[in-house]
Amino acid sequence: MKNIQIKTFAEYKKAYKESVENPEVFWDKIAGEFLWKKKWDKTLEWDFNKPEIKWFPGGKLNITENCLDRHLETIGNKTAIIWEPNDPDEESRYISYKQLFVKVSHFANVLKNNGIKKGDRVCLYMPMIPELAIAMLACARIGAVHSIVFAGFSSTAIANRINDSNCKMLITANQVYRGSKPVNLKEICDEALEKTPSIETVIVYRRTVENTPMKAGRDKFWFDELEKAEKECPAEEMDAEDLLFILYTSGSTGKPKGMVHTTGGYMVGTTYTFTNVFQYNAETPKSSDVYWCTADIGWITGHSYIIYGPLAAGATTVMFEGIPSFPDSGRFWEIVEKLKVTHFYTAPTAIRSLAKHPISFVEKHDLSSLKVLGSVGEPINEEAWHWYNDNIGKGNCPIVDTWWQTETGAIMISPLAGITPTRPTFATLPLPGVQPALMDENGEEITNVHEKADGRLAIKFPWPSMARTIYGDHERFKQVYFSAYKNMYFTGDGAYRDATGNYRITGRVDDVVIVSGHNLGTAPIENAINEHPKVAESAVVGYPHDVKGNALYAYVILYDDVEPSDGLKEEIKKEVSKIIGPIAKPDKIQFVNSLPKTRSGKIMRRILRKIASNDTSNLGDTSTLLNPEVVDSIIKDSKNI
Ligand code: PRX
Repeated sequence: MKNIQIKTFAEYKKAYKESVENPEVFWDKIAGEFLWKKKWDKTLEWDFNKPEIKWFPGGKLNITENCLDRHLETIGNKTAIIWEPNDPDEESRYISYKQLFVKVSHFANVLKNNGIKKGDRVCLYMPMIPELAIAMLACARIGAVHSIVFAGFSSTAIANRINDSNCKMLITANQVYRGSKPVNLKEICDEALEKTPSIETVIVYRRTVENTPMKAGRDKFWFDELEKAEKECPAEEMDAEDLLFILYTSGSTGKPKGMVHTTGGYMVGTTYTFTNVFQYNAETPKSSDVYWCTADIGWITGHSYIIYGPLAAGATTVMFEGIPSFPDSGRFWEIVEKLKVTHFYTAPTAIRSLAKHPISFVEKHDLSSLKVLGSVGEPINEEAWHWYNDNIGKGNCPIVDTWWQTETGAIMISPLAGITPTRPTFATLPLPGVQPALMDENGEEITNVHEKADGRLAIKFPWPSMARTIYGDHERFKQVYFSAYKNMYFTGDGAYRDATGNYRITGRVDDVVIVSGHNLGTAPIENAINEHPKVAESAVVGYPHDVKGNALYAYVILYDDVEPSDGLKEEIKKEVSKIIGPIAKPDKIQFVNSLPKTRSGKIMRRILRKIASNDTSNLGDTSTLLNPEVVDSIIKDSKNI
């Protein structure tokens, strides 16, 4: 990927200019660096009104040939994946490009033997083990569409996602350890499987010795299936616009949105941004750069920047099964030292939680291998930025604060490591090909880039890795992303731009709350709380939290005859955990008699947010409320929560 790598700030500026003035020529050149079975007929077709976006239509390729086959001759023996287990006493696994190629091809035949064909949807509910990477690439090899569900989600969440896209197969593991806690993944799947008629086969990887019940005819062990399968599997020919995967993300209404990503543009976008943002040196077989993104593959960060981007670029990518606090809070730094990690990419929430522990956890490890640090998922506050810079980077590693979304597929606004001047808390400048627009409260673009301004962030031109639709609900795709501003994609984020054009993302402007870097819609959490038989109604908002960035505050109205109690709060949290997953559990619950509502019956979340944030000095205009008197009583009771 040498030919697509920007080396200086002047080159960045030149590339940016070119990408805006002549986007098709710009992306044509970049796409030309990849392996295609047939060249595309057209570079781009787009219409944000429909919306319809096609990149490289008519082009034929298989993304796994770009991630695997293409590297065999040049860097076949180089390590593609280093796997670091949860238990530090268990051995790490090193998988070369050649070995990964063999494993992916072999498992692709397991999929085929079990009736999976191009276009079929396959759900993956897996721990962070190499077999997750193998299964996703195997799907891509034969043109099946993977839908990965983060293995911290509940059985109900799995079932909803499987049913939304009619998955034919589920791939999981019997059990996994996270820290010292076992999680019985297959049992959780079994609960989900009671409600998922479309699933014909379940493939189970045995991660631990623990037995798991298997349903005859439906459930099959990974290794038994491999034994029956051929080793070689030619790659399916895919159109650039054929589906690669579906990944669900929260929305501001109840149902999760199955974001659809297609093959060609996603590959070009993730690889281009990986190479340039991280300035990863992948070209030589001897290159010793080791890149580690600590995200879970169940999120978009893992899809784009543990698997597809790094592998297409020929990088060595680390997969970590465990958690940052096990066996102690020095685990990340122990791994950096052990694997000589050069590029480290994590979330502000992890930085803030590790910064709370004695600095000796950091200091006892040699972090001198580090060259580049990354941040993703939420705004990084000044304090966390400096802690990261001073204690981890020792002032020598550029920090790339990367802003993007599940929907954007790839990084959109970020410094290029060591090239773009950084500024704490700023994601800085758009990458080549990204045309942001800052919108004012009247829906007009703020075009004067030489004056600082606050607004809402939109994007006014397509980029290759953008989502194409919401699976099965194109109208919702249009409503959510393309109806706020004419001819623009709306991000749902607020942003500040300084007088030199640097962007700082200020947070969501809709009913999505980013908790510990996880994107959570408040509506589904309210729905889950309301499932509790003693709950009449609820409202959930976010409030600032010093480790998680934001935490969740639930205002709950109980039925008349119900006595509030701490036990009931625990039951409500359990309900949310059961329906969505532990990450969505509210941190605070306040029982209230009623909620502040407008005359049209809409809950005034702005007021609830202020109360939850303990910022009640200026509640703004409450005169439009139907019941202004409830505000005082909620404020009074909130002091004891
Ligand atoms: O609010 C922004 C925040 O995370 C949202 C996207 O969440 P998700 O789709 O889960 O993807 C997370 C990983 C890409 C955005 O709308 N966000 C993401 N990165 C940043 C950020 N906020 C501020 N700074 C960032 N670097």
